[in-house]
Amino acid sequence: MRIAVTGATGVLGQEAVEALVAAGHDVSGVTRRDSGIPIVEGRGGRGVVANVFDASDLARVFRGHEVVINTLAHVPVGMAGLRPLAWREDDKLHGEASVAIAQAAAQAGVHKLIQESTVFMYPDNGSEWISEDMPLSVRNQAFRARVREMRAAVDFAGSGRSAVVLRLGQLFGRDPQTTHALKAVREGDQILLGSPDGYITLLHHKDAGRAFVAALRADSGFYNVGGEPIPRKRWAKDLATEAGAKSPAKFYPEIAQSLVGTRLDVQRRSLRVSSVRFMNETGWWPQTGPSTPGWSRR
Ligand SMILES: NC(=O)c1ccc[n+]([C@@H]2O[C@H](COP(=O)([O-])OP(=O)(O)OC[C@H]3O[C@@H](n4cnc5c(N)ncnc54)[C@H](OP(=O)(O)O)[C@@H]3O)[C@@H](O)[C@H]2O)c1
Repeated sequence: MRIAVTGATGVLGQEAVEALVAAGHDVSGVTRRDSGIPIVEGRGGRGVVANVFDASDLARVFRGHEVVINTLAHVPVGMAGLRPLAWREDDKLHGEASVAIAQAAAQAGVHKLIQESTVFMYPDNGSEWISEDMPLSVRNQAFRARVREMRAAVDFAGSGRSAVVLRLGQLFGRDPQTTHALKAVREGDQILLGSPDGYITLLHHKDAGRAFVAALRADSGFYNVGGEPIPRKRWAKDLATEAGAKSPAKFYPEIAQSLVGTRLDVQRRSLRVSSVRFMNETGWWPQTGPSTPGWSRR
């Protein structure tokens, strides 16, 4: 299939391009800069320059493609998320670029849109499981742009078109966020939010890349995509093992956690998310877990 990927030079996008090419697809990777082209080519795709906020420029690029996969994001690393305006670019990408991408895909005659989203929109559900039917907890400034993005995907579906929204677990692997966490563990610094008994649903980058390929087989709808959820205290130990540190990763004390503000507060939620629907429908399953040795070098 001819597939266009937006955010193709990012952490998720590069994995998506590589996995799609490996599965035999013809992939165009969209970047805003000439220097992004060799990054896409390095993963086996064709680099194309376009402005992701301009629907007519995007429609020009999308013409002739059957599928568009949007992986755009710009997540601040670690406590940089506390800084004023830290989330401005990420909000613009989800609230404006994602809308332009869905509109351009419809204009260009694309049949299917696959949109990256996040499990952090679910409410804290303690140790209970969360499926796609659980109502979202998005009455929070943190998710205004994500809700617009979701609506744009839903609007795209119809008139014979389909939209698949993937609610991805927390990414881990060889990426800036996890590298930052591993360094903090080695140095004995606090790094984890939430309660040690709360659940976390993780997704390795390679598995995320394979999930975009699997999503080509999914019908329109919302799907959770993550590995087996684990208590955060288990993740604290897995991080230490991978970092080669003696003590588990440290949690921020409750008093500090209560001050992190709306944007990071959602990362304290206990999320025991089931990906059974996606697995059953597509045959996808996670191959790398947090206790798989060497996961940060894959
Ligand atoms: N579910 C999750 O847990 C989750 C989801 C996403 C990301 N993350 C984490 O967040 C960290 C950052 O990764 P990332 O992939 O989000 O960041 P990124 O690499 O900064 O951004 C991804 C791509 O989006 C494009 N982009 C970024 N800002 C843009 C802007 N203002 N205008 C137009 N295009 C823009 C860039 O493409 P061009 O420069 O080539 O145009 C970039 O390569 C990673 O550690 C990742 O694992 C986690």
